[in-house]
Amino acid sequence: MDHSRAPVVEALLDFRRRGDVVFGPPGHRQGRGVDRRLLDVLGEGLFAADVLLLNGLDDRRESQGVLADAQALMADAVHADQTFFSTCGSSLSVKSSMMAVAGPGEELLVSRNAHKSVVSALVIAGIRPVWVHLHVDEDLHLAHPPEPEDVRRALADHPRARGMLLITPTDWGTCADIEGVAQVCHDAGVPLIVDEAWGAHLPFHRDLPTWGMNAGADVVVTSVHKMGSAVEQSSVFHLQGDLVDPSVLKQREDLLGTTSSSSLVYLTLDGWRRQMVEEGERLLAAAIDRAARVGTAVDAIDGLSLMGREVVRPGGAFDLDPLVLTIDVRGLGVTGYAAAEWLRDRCHVDLGAADTCRVNARLTHADDERTEQVLVEALQQLAGRADEIDRAPHVDLPRGPELELETVMRPRDAFFARVEQVPASRAVGRVVAELVTPYPPGVPVLVPGERVTAEALDYLRTGVAAGMLIPDAADPELSTLRVVDEADAP
Ligand SMILES: Cc1ncc(COP(=O)(O)O)c(C=O)c1O
Repeated sequence: MDHSRAPVVEALLDFRRRGDVVFGPPGHRQGRGVDRRLLDVLGEGLFAADVLLLNGLDDRRESQGVLADAQALMADAVHADQTFFSTCGSSLSVKSSMMAVAGPGEELLVSRNAHKSVVSALVIAGIRPVWVHLHVDEDLHLAHPPEPEDVRRALADHPRARGMLLITPTDWGTCADIEGVAQVCHDAGVPLIVDEAWGAHLPFHRDLPTWGMNAGADVVVTSVHKMGSAVEQSSVFHLQGDLVDPSVLKQREDLLGTTSSSSLVYLTLDGWRRQMVEEGERLLAAAIDRAARVGTAVDAIDGLSLMGREVVRPGGAFDLDPLVLTIDVRGLGVTGYAAAEWLRDRCHVDLGAADTCRVNARLTHADDERTEQVLVEALQQLAGRADEIDRAPHVDLPRGPELELETVMRPRDAFFARVEQVPASRAVGRVVAELVTPYPPGVPVLVPGERVTAEALDYLRTGVAAGMLIPDAADPELSTLRVVDEADAP
């Protein structure tokens, strides 16, 4: 295929050349109605590119095939049979994919490091999760993705499960053995969905971890805004093989998605694919070299410990994304939360994620010598001035199995049950009715339908005291917790 083409971008240029006058949305009319003060901030180009697909970039019948051609080029670039663009983030793509594989009351294997959007899909669709638990490294306090044998056991115990959802890479750049898990799923005749939200760059350089489509996954979801050059909310899902019906997948997406897709998302997805096919190898090679240099510099800083390939081992990670620099800050006597806040306040450096033990910085093809230097100098300052940072209260970090809670109700039944807001001290033993998700990274510690344990609650409450944020709980301070009313609980 001709990857020098960018059908959506070309359609916008044609729209401008024709001088179309629009009498439908968007009401700002390509910027003519926008307040000058806003235009001065955002630039005229942003609004000028905001054009509907129907009766805008393409006609009412989509007879120019603008979107279809752009999606076909993306599919070709990443070795998929079919690709769908989504303008509602991977939060929606993940839901669409899960609902294309399992329906109300049906079982789906789900890796327990699932993002909250996965749990939302369980609630919305009434799917029964079969949790596949993680391998916890007790020293690092870090959970690695499940291995093929874990999935094989779960499928043997749940032969009616409709498929598996695997999350890889994780927020910390650790990767699962997609090929091994795909093989296990296919032996059982069920599809593998890979939530590869953090993996948009993976198809475009051979030294990066294997990309889901190349590893035999059936559906792969990725957020191009995370590690790529498209704007926020840009997501794609890719399909191959015959275990998932493309028309079902499209209809599930249609059920959830917007009817007013953003052309900014389509344009930037299209431009990203062209850029990566033409220049990805070179740009990503430079990013990989840069990340290695930053890693060497971090290794030389006392008190900081960079996670390296020692985590790649049986029972650990299968692979590691070299562009994710995960740095344990416990040696400085501070939490990751406090370190990240200090770096923002004092150095104006905003990191990717932070938890009790660590922070991460993600490099992309967009970084350069200046940003590399800024990052290294900021981390040196952090280590040199760590005694300025408040010592955080102690967090009761759980041991791995302590976060494997018993699921006693379907997430949907618990979420929509009659509920009570009880003092945290009375929540132990009750069935939680809400998501409780430290964010970022966004992996729920409590999922509706799970029985609350003292260990999980201690971890969350001591975490909040140390700077953990839980935006989705009804009471983000966790003095109280939303639980299923006794009358509705099993
Ligand atoms: C693993 C994972 N899946 C899905 C999502 C949702 O992606 P988006 O922000 O594009 O909606 C995220 C977001 O952080 C994520 O980390």
